[in-house]
Amino acid sequence: MADLETLKKEAALRAVDLVQSGMRVGLGTGSTAKYAIEELGRRVQAGELTGIVGVATSEASDTLARQVGLRVEVLDPRALDIAIDGADEVAPNLDLIKGLGGALLREKLTEVQARRLIIIADHTKVVNRLGEKAPLPVEIAAFGFLSTIERLRAQLPGGRLRQPGAQPFLTDNGNYIYDAQLPGAIDPPTLERQLKGTLGVVDTGFFLGMAERAFVASPDGVSELTR
Ligand code: A5P
Repeated sequence: MADLETLKKEAALRAVDLVQSGMRVGLGTGSTAKYAIEELGRRVQAGELTGIVGVATSEASDTLARQVGLRVEVLDPRALDIAIDGADEVAPNLDLIKGLGGALLREKLTEVQARRLIIIADHTKVVNRLGEKAPLPVEIAAFGFLSTIERLRAQLPGGRLRQPGAQPFLTDNGNYIYDAQLPGAIDPPTLERQLKGTLGVVDTGFFLGMAERAFVASPDGVSELTR
């Protein structure tokens, strides 16, 4: 049976097939998006694609993209033709939870400007409802974070500051992340509005109504989900 890495790569290759020469491409972050960036670089180096400009959603993806020979530009107000990224959870309507890799803010800032957001994932990411398996990452300002966490705990008690070692995890933007456990019955758009209205919250890992399609790889092959 194919291992997860093979599946991630299979999904990534399907998404890269949608990229055409001359496109401005949002480059996602994470272990699945990595395969898309590598494949884009390979196609550019092989001359199969020309005039590709990448806009990276994290420092890590920026570095990788340059390593594989992609031209990378910073985000500006121009639209992106396409963005390709992984996700932590994919709901049946293609609403997503993202941000376990910590790049949610730059991902959202970039992908909201993409004409097409294409999600790539292995089958373990597909859920019936958001929050079924993954926590919801909430990016919060480092200043006053304990106060912000109190405000968040009043709404979502089962969460914790992301802290893999002695120090809190620091995002590329110098912020912290609160990983919130979602209760069973939530309405993601309502909760998104509520969280975004909470002082100290910068953004959440809800990506609602953004993805156009998802390539989901399982041992039976790659399926294409649309809204
Ligand atoms: C990065 O912050 C995330 O949004 C990733 O896109 C997401 O966590 C998926 O990552 P993997 O492909 O590594 O599972």
